[in-house]
Amino acid sequence: KMISRKKGFLLLILAFSTVTLLFRQSAHLSWFPKSSPFGCGPLLSSRPKHTAVAFLKTHKTASSTVQNLLFRFAERHNVTVALPHHACDHQFCYPRNFSARFVHPYTLPPRVIASHLRFNGGELRRLMPNDTIYITILREPVGMFESLFSYYNQYCPAFKRVPNGSMEAFLDEPYRYYRPHEKFAMYAHNTMVYDLGGDPERNPDHDPAYLPRFVRQVESIFSLVMLAEYFDESLVLLRRLLAWDLEDVLYVKLNMRSPESKLNITSPHLVEQIRAWNALDARLYDHFNTTFWRKMGEVGQDCVRKEVRALRQACGRLAQHCFGGQPQLRPAMQIKNKELRPWQPSAKVDIVGYDLPGSGPPSDELCLKLVMPEVQYSRYLLRKQSLKNRRRAAAHRSLSPRGLLRPPRHPITKVA
Ligand SMILES: *[C@@H]1O[C@H](CO)[C@@H](O)[C@H](O)[C@H]1NC(C)=O
Ligand SMILES: *[C@@H]1O[C@H](CO)[C@@H](O)[C@H](O)[C@H]1NC(C)=O
Ligand SMILES: *[C@@H]1O[C@H](CO)[C@@H](O)[C@H](O)[C@H]1NC(C)=O
Ligand SMILES: *[C@@H]1O[C@H](CO)[C@@H](O)[C@H](O)[C@H]1NC(C)=O
Ligand SMILES: *[C@@H]1O[C@H](CO)[C@@H](O)[C@H](O)[C@H]1NC(C)=O
Ligand SMILES: *[C@@H]1O[C@H](CO)[C@@H](O)[C@H](O)[C@H]1NC(C)=O
Repeated sequence: KMISRKKGFLLLILAFSTVTLLFRQSAHLSWFPKSSPFGCGPLLSSRPKHTAVAFLKTHKTASSTVQNLLFRFAERHNVTVALPHHACDHQFCYPRNFSARFVHPYTLPPRVIASHLRFNGGELRRLMPNDTIYITILREPVGMFESLFSYYNQYCPAFKRVPNGSMEAFLDEPYRYYRPHEKFAMYAHNTMVYDLGGDPERNPDHDPAYLPRFVRQVESIFSLVMLAEYFDESLVLLRRLLAWDLEDVLYVKLNMRSPESKLNITSPHLVEQIRAWNALDARLYDHFNTTFWRKMGEVGQDCVRKEVRALRQACGRLAQHCFGGQPQLRPAMQIKNKELRPWQPSAKVDIVGYDLPGSGPPSDELCLKLVMPEVQYSRYLLRKQSLKNRRRAAAHRSLSPRGLLRPPRHPITKVA
């Protein structure tokens, strides 16, 4: 009797989990119609998905949102993500040139890398598989500079020196405040070129050959340069490049400032000054804006536009499911779940984030991950991958009595 009751109970549990699983599965797939209604190819790809991706995460370019999406993709597809060694913080010892030594040994060998680093092609090739697709994202330099100026106003000495924190004063005489070789200088001058491994101090008037050469180099490595201004279009190009489903690029915007802490730059004089000070970034952006539209033309602008609409609708449905509508932006301190509080660069800037409805632990993992800020998500992934790695190592040890197959140790010397 006892045994059969136990059996019945087990059966009940089994039935319940099956129903739950089916329900989740169907919920999972219902964000968009599976067959494309507009003859531009299926929204679910027929090619195998490409899983080796190196994303150069640039600063203040909506790159946190792309990183979040790549982290979620990697988790769902069992792909290892390279994460920084503890000594490197949650970035790969940025602003130093990237080195494979900065990667946590428990995250080797990776197929995805998406945390901040200063690009170094040789070291990335050493780390990543040979079928890796390189991608990055750029932003129009005027909005970008305003964002950097505000975000790093307490970090970057060049900005701290300016009286009254005035961007106008800085731009009138940048060399009065800016020192190229001091700490955090890279946030104040041609930051995109710096992140891409270039030399931000080259003056295009004195050295006109430098930027075209640099652009050719970037083009030879990166298969797609996304643009923050055309974010959804960029995601459509991305998912087509990688043969991902539209579902793999759903997102909510992360790491934003509140509208009140944004300056609205409307003066043409200021725009000119910002572009002149960041002349390399401005030309870099203009170049890749041109190639972006060429790429859009190749896919077919109509197709992209329709797919963008499908993406937005799917993101809307997902937001409805997770937050009961568009998620409410909240100042970090008002976010109850500490795991969801974004990092604040200083008391003067308000980085807003999201909270999940209800006060208990969030029930839906996708919703939680969707709004998990980068520091917490990186920590979470590292814990998860370390655990997996240790289990694997333990399994190997039980097979080889002397424990020959311990994970390799990668000593880091002199990490700042
Ligand atoms: C991911 O890995 C886990 C454990 O290693 C395994 O149980 C699961 O089936 C894998 N999933 C996929 C989609 O490969
Ligand atoms: C970092 O990379 C830049 C650009 O490739 C190079 O000029 C510089 O010497 C490198 N710095 C170090 C410390 O290796
Ligand atoms: C990539 O590496 C694999 C083994 O890791 C090798 O078999 C393959 O030939 C390489 N492909 C290219 C294009 O180098
Ligand atoms: C800084 O602000 C104060 C008060 O608003 C003003 O009197 C002063 O002239 C400003 N200084 C500069 C260098 O703009
Ligand atoms: C900038 O514009 C946005 C939207 O138009 C507005 O909400 C915000 O308050 C403005 N910021 C400032 C500093 O004026
Ligand atoms: C990018 O290029 C397009 C097409 O030439 C142009 O309309 C648009 O203004 C450019 N965008 C920016 C932000 O410069």
